[in-house]
Amino acid sequence: MSKFWSPFVKDLVPYVPGEQPKLTKLVKLNTNENPYGPSPKALAAMQAELNDNLRLYPDPNSDLLKQAVARYYGIDAAKVFLGNGSDEVLAHIFHGLFQHDRPLLFPDISYSFYPVYCGLYGIESEPVPLDEQFQIRVADYARPNGGVIFPNPNAPTGCVLALDAVEQIVKASPDSVVVVDEAYIDFGGETAISLVDRYPNLLVTQTLSKSRSLAGLRVGLAVGHPDLIEALERVKNSFNSYPLDRLAIAGASAAFDDREYFEKTCQKVIDSRNTLVAQLEAKGFEVLPSAANFIFARHPQHDAAGLAAKLREQGVIVRHFKQERIAQFLRISIGTPEQNQALIDGLGEL
Ligand SMILES: Cc1ncc(COP(=O)(O)O)c(C=O)c1O
Repeated sequence: MSKFWSPFVKDLVPYVPGEQPKLTKLVKLNTNENPYGPSPKALAAMQAELNDNLRLYPDPNSDLLKQAVARYYGIDAAKVFLGNGSDEVLAHIFHGLFQHDRPLLFPDISYSFYPVYCGLYGIESEPVPLDEQFQIRVADYARPNGGVIFPNPNAPTGCVLALDAVEQIVKASPDSVVVVDEAYIDFGGETAISLVDRYPNLLVTQTLSKSRSLAGLRVGLAVGHPDLIEALERVKNSFNSYPLDRLAIAGASAAFDDREYFEKTCQKVIDSRNTLVAQLEAKGFEVLPSAANFIFARHPQHDAAGLAAKLREQGVIVRHFKQERIAQFLRISIGTPEQNQALIDGLGEL
């Protein structure tokens, strides 16, 4: 702490991202990245954009990308908001739509950035416990609130809610904004974007970091009623007018246009997930049903921290959370078949 800090800074509890090791030899199954590269068309679009135009600022509205998203989902571009990763989109949502008198509701086990934003923006929150099977109980969200947010599929559990269950949560809070964080939706869930026209309080966020394999580019989006989008644009334009650079706009647009590559790589991840789940279950793991590009698993006889340490010695990194309720689980990102086999080999005889 220093006398130069604004007073609130000393109370911040920042988010701790998963490790990005400098050693490239490691099998990295800890931050839910895509094991397959981005669309070759996205790479080509970015390479074409690497030219003298970089001296010019990018389009502050990223219209090219808004239109690509709108085309993909068959919606109006006025319903699309873009940011530097969905983390930034979420930050603007917390800032611009969740600062109310009543508490914000989110599951006790969910994305650990939510409480961090609450701390940053002084938002009171109320954790809503998942049930014994680590599932969201829809009825628990039907109570007074200043907003609701949950990932679907949930993170780090990987469990998905069906669209009608999502709709019930949205319907139950007509006077507050309900945000469905669909970072992992393309690996097995049904997007709630189809509900946006009917519910002016619904906002859906997505990212290009997972299913479009562009975590390094930092592009995220939100889809909702133009009134909600306007709030986000106001916050964004009071913070950073150019969150997406020229390469990001070109690459992300091309990635959205390349539906074929996207579908092919998502399917490969889903197939590998099914194989990995079967292999882990054969070793005695309990694996929660996953609709994401990761799985959440525990072994009844082996301590999760010990297993993570053992795997690391074998050059495989997975994520372990210390939070009490999930301290015996490992979150394992789905890799290529070879990477998944390295995980299985690293576990050895249990
Ligand atoms: C549930 C959830 N939401 C949002 C994000 C943020 O993704 P990004 O900022 O890369 O778009 C993540 C990243 O892991 C996540 O797990």
